[in-house]
Amino acid sequence: MTFSVQRVREDFPVLAREVNGLPLAYLDSAASAQKPNQVIDAESEFYRHGYAAVHRGIHTLSAEATERMEDVRVKAAAFLNARTPEELVFVRGTTEGINLVANSWGESQIQPGDNIIISAMEHHANIVPWQMLCARKGAELRVIPLTAEGTLEFSALPGLFDDKTRLVAITHVSNVLGTENPVAEIVALAHQHGAKVLVDGAQAVMHHAVDVQALDCDFYLFSAHKLYGPTGIGVLYAKEAILADMPPWEGGGSMIATVSLSEGTTFAKAPWRFEAGTPNTGGIIALGAALDYVSHLGLDNIHEYETALMAYALKELASVPDLLIYGPQQRLGVIAFNLGQHHAYDVGSFLDNYGIAVRTGHHCAMPLMQHYQVPAMCRASLAMYNTHEEVDRLVTGLKRIHQLLG
Ligand SMILES: Cc1ncc(COP(=O)(O)O)c(C=O)c1O
Repeated sequence: MTFSVQRVREDFPVLAREVNGLPLAYLDSAASAQKPNQVIDAESEFYRHGYAAVHRGIHTLSAEATERMEDVRVKAAAFLNARTPEELVFVRGTTEGINLVANSWGESQIQPGDNIIISAMEHHANIVPWQMLCARKGAELRVIPLTAEGTLEFSALPGLFDDKTRLVAITHVSNVLGTENPVAEIVALAHQHGAKVLVDGAQAVMHHAVDVQALDCDFYLFSAHKLYGPTGIGVLYAKEAILADMPPWEGGGSMIATVSLSEGTTFAKAPWRFEAGTPNTGGIIALGAALDYVSHLGLDNIHEYETALMAYALKELASVPDLLIYGPQQRLGVIAFNLGQHHAYDVGSFLDNYGIAVRTGHHCAMPLMQHYQVPAMCRASLAMYNTHEEVDRLVTGLKRIHQLLG
């Protein structure tokens, strides 16, 4: 199948909008992607014609909803090439999934004096839960430094391990720099030291195929809303043997086998042991539609289109005076920049006046802002529905701002 960006755009109703009297150029998909009709319709069709609580009834609608939800687990397992659907837990998103691992696996495995390795390019979602766990446990958080270019200082990694290292928690792709980390090599090194590896895939799964068996990582996470799916739903992958040993995190309905006031509670097996309460069934069904949507387009086709668009953007942006781009040339999805000494908020506000939506701020990566010694950056994301013309508008807009502000 050939990839046609125009055909893809027709599936996304919001892309036909105007902002400030101009066609919307939505360059903020790394924060959250827009949704195609297929996803919107799947969720609304469920609420119109199929809605019921899952697991709790033998009536037809409940049984159907349960089956549809479990079908999405099967789809998500295929999407990540997990060994079995039972390696996947539905969570609210990447943030909740990391907190689940920290509070279940981390709480039971981390001892005083142990250490956990992260990197200086992590999103706060992959920093703060580990800081909190380390503070509770008397453990140490170690940080892989970055090169000036914005890649991992890989040569520093072996020196961070010792026999107390239990976990490496690393982003697959940086949400600011677009750097893709050598996850398989990190996993191999960590496993030699007996440490587990958690991969934050929030910025990876929409750009190319991910194979958790090939990576051999122990945990992998993503959020549906960055993959053209709905908010409020995401996936935690964990190797079957690890998940089977993890204690429950949240208690409540749907995660138990038996509950007795005199004898206590026995728990359901994984992954249901980690899904307390009524799930976000509508979101799960819409996630299934998003997985179908990208699978139908083909992640290889998406990757090829986005790679060409990124190369074009980097080439054209090089002509903007005083534009400083952060991160390596080889990157996925995002271009973070500052224009001269102008604050990112000012630049972002001007771009909004031109109908161009970019993210501004610290991007939930304050340590990375500290690394570059800036308070904020602008970030333009390039998704599969963005066009060369939108890149041209960004370049023209930045040149105009440079002229106006000096
Ligand atoms: C790399 C990375 N990790 C984690 C997250 C958190 O994802 P969510 O807010 O969907 O839980 C994000 C979202 O911006 C991200 O970019």
